[in-house]
Formats: sequence, structure tokens, C-alpha cells
Amino acid sequence: VELKVREKPRGAILGQEEIDAVTGLLREQESLSYAGRNIPGFEKEFAAYCGVKHAVVVANATVALYMAAQILRLGRGDEVIIGDITFKATVCPLLIRGCTPVYADVDETMNASPADIERRITPRTKAIFVIDMNGNPADMDPIMEIAARHTLKVVVDAAHSPGAAYKGRKVGALGDITCFSFHSLKNMTCGGEGGMLTTNDDTFAREAYDLRTMGFLGTREPRVPNRIGPYTKPGFPFNDHSDGGFDHYFTTLEEVGLNFRITDIQAAIGRVQLKKLDGFNARRTAIARRYSEAIRGIKGFRLWKPTPGAACVYHLYPVYLNAAEWKVDRNEVARYLQEECGVEMIIRFFPLHLSRFAPPSRQKVGECPVAERIFFTELLQLPISASMTDEEVDYVAQSLKRASEKYC
Ligand SMILES: Cc1ncc(COP(=O)(O)O)c(C=O)c1O
Repeated sequence: VELKVREKPRGAILGQEEIDAVTGLLREQESLSYAGRNIPGFEKEFAAYCGVKHAVVVANATVALYMAAQILRLGRGDEVIIGDITFKATVCPLLIRGCTPVYADVDETMNASPADIERRITPRTKAIFVIDMNGNPADMDPIMEIAARHTLKVVVDAAHSPGAAYKGRKVGALGDITCFSFHSLKNMTCGGEGGMLTTNDDTFAREAYDLRTMGFLGTREPRVPNRIGPYTKPGFPFNDHSDGGFDHYFTTLEEVGLNFRITDIQAAIGRVQLKKLDGFNARRTAIARRYSEAIRGIKGFRLWKPTPGAACVYHLYPVYLNAAEWKVDRNEVARYLQEECGVEMIIRFFPLHLSRFAPPSRQKVGECPVAERIFFTELLQLPISASMTDEEVDYVAQSLKRASEKYC
């Protein structure tokens, strides 16, 4: 049958307010690069929303994670413990910087188990990268306690969890550095791409602002006749304005970096979306509740549960098969749901310790048994987005019931 319910039906919901914000900017005919308008405003509002001191807007979550690794000086020879189930974007920045990722097994929440994180600490461990999988905050109290005991820094990949909370505190201020994604399929968007790095640490924030724009730009020094910085030779061509030269000042060149900025248009969309985020998250939570009520009574399934004390924002809605109750395997159930019922089935995310891109991985099959069991034999991820209708949710739940009646 043809697809009836898409996995993420329509992605982001953009309305007239976003359209007005964009067209207003286009009409101004001003610079749409960083111009001191929407970008600082978006950062201030996002920081206030999360209850964190600093927010630095960047191009996407992947570069925010890269900057976090750079700020924490993570590099060759450093081990970084990282949850085994996540999108590759969490680990690629570490691999690019030459770190050694050490994968921690997950628990039933699909987030890294604090006990397994601690078990994998060695004298070479420098940091822990945790992921708020599915929009569900990691269990931060034990994780921060372990980190403090071993003097490790904690980076939170909150690509799935803007607006989520843990024990009454919003995600964004719980780890040393937190990284958000505003890709169009995330809980809020900047109109396609976008990211944010948040921290309570003044030094980390200062470095993040610098790293976003090619690294520290240098100091502004007044230009005196016949002298530019160390060059005092008469006749030096100081009327050449390249490389950060100004009429009366020039900027020294001190650090190497890349450009991780977004445009003013993206920030303007992000500001509108931030105001709508709680509404989007409330809708996702209502959908999750509707799914859970329906699935609770269906044989063969076990509900996925968020971290105790967490307010999950359901970026995804996972559900587990009790494999022993089924006559067929999970893959056949997923095939049935997609091909016979028209419910799109995408199963995320492949356990990183078995990835091909990080050889030679010291971690083999059997090293993260919970992640392997869940991902290869039990996990289904049901369609969810803020724009999904109750009818679509009910159709998916009925399809699970059909599968159960056929195969259990
Ligand atoms: C867990 C996780 N981390 C990071 C990212 C990367 O986000 P971005 O696309 O903004 O770089 C994603 C995106 O899908 C993700 O799912």
C-alpha cells in the first residue's frame, strides 16, 4: 500500500509570523550577515528561556559539538565517553579532532547509562558526551556527580531536546556545554539549519564567540606612520587594506578558525520559533500520551519510558517489541507496518561502536549489549511531529494492533 503516515509528516511548522520576519528583513536592503540585529536578540532570548548565562548561535549542532570539543581542548590521545546510540554528528567532531571515542552502553531510555559511563573511565578520559535521545534529558545528576569525582567535563548533545527539563531545570544549563540543533526536522527551526551552544562558563562563551568567526580576531592596534605591528621598515605598504586593516587601526592575526555563523534571516526565524516552542512541545507530548494509552493494551509491545524526573519533548517516539512474544522478528514487523499498513518506518540510530568509520574500534559486538538488543531486535520509532493529527496517531496505533494480531 502507499504511505499513509510519513515518519515526520511535514517537518517544521512555519507560519505568517516567520514569513513577516523574513520579508521585513529582505525589504530593509541591509546586510543580512551578522549585523547586530536578530542574532544577539535570539541569543539573549534563548539563554533566558533555558536559564543559562550564555547562548552562542551557530550554523548547526554538528559545528557546536565541534566547537565544544575545541573549547575543551579535546584532541589526539584523549578518550571521550559517548552514548552508543546517537546520530553520527555527535561523534564525527571528536574523530576529526583525533580523539578516541569510548562508547558507553545505554539503558532502556536509550541514553547512556551512568553506571556504564563510570565503568569506562580510564586515566586518559577527558570528557563525557551525553545525548538527550528522543528529546529525553540524560540522567544528569549522577552523570555530573561522576564527572566531578573524576574531573571530567560534560557536553550535552541536545539536538533533540530544546525545551525539555530535568528535575525542574531546563536543558541548556545542565552540563558544562550544551549543543542544540535547529534543523528543519527538529522541535524548532531557524528555517532549515541552525544551532546553539549554551554554557554558564564565561571563558567557554568568550571562546565560542571567537571560534564562530575564524577564531580570535586579534587585538585592534592603532596604526602609526611607517609602522604596522612588528613591521617598522619605511615604505611598508600600509595603505593595503587586506587582512583586517582599517584606516586608523589594524587587527593582529593570531588564531586560526572557520566560519560557523548563520544569517540574520535565520536568527529572525529562530526568534519566532522560540516563542512557539512550548506549544510545539506540548503537541508532541499529547501525541506521545495518545500513543502510549493506545499501545499499553496491545500484546507484544513494551512502552519506552523517559528518564525519571524528566520532562521529555518527544522529538521521537520509540516503542519496544517484546521479541519473545512474536513469531517474526522486528524487521518483519517494521516491513509489515510500512508495506502493508503504509506507516513509514525509519529506525534510528545505528550503535556507534559497530560503525565502520572509526576503525580499529576496540569495542566489538557484545560490548554494548543493551544498545545492540534494542537497536537490532526491539526498537520501532513511530511517526511523530507537532503537525501530526490525532487521526494519523490512531491509524498508526491501529496498525500496531493489526501487526500484533497477525504475528503474536
Ligand atoms: C542526536 C543528534 N545530534 C546532532 C545532530 C546534528 O544536528 P545538525 O543537523 O544541526 O548539525 C543531529 C541531527 O540530526 C542529531 O540527531
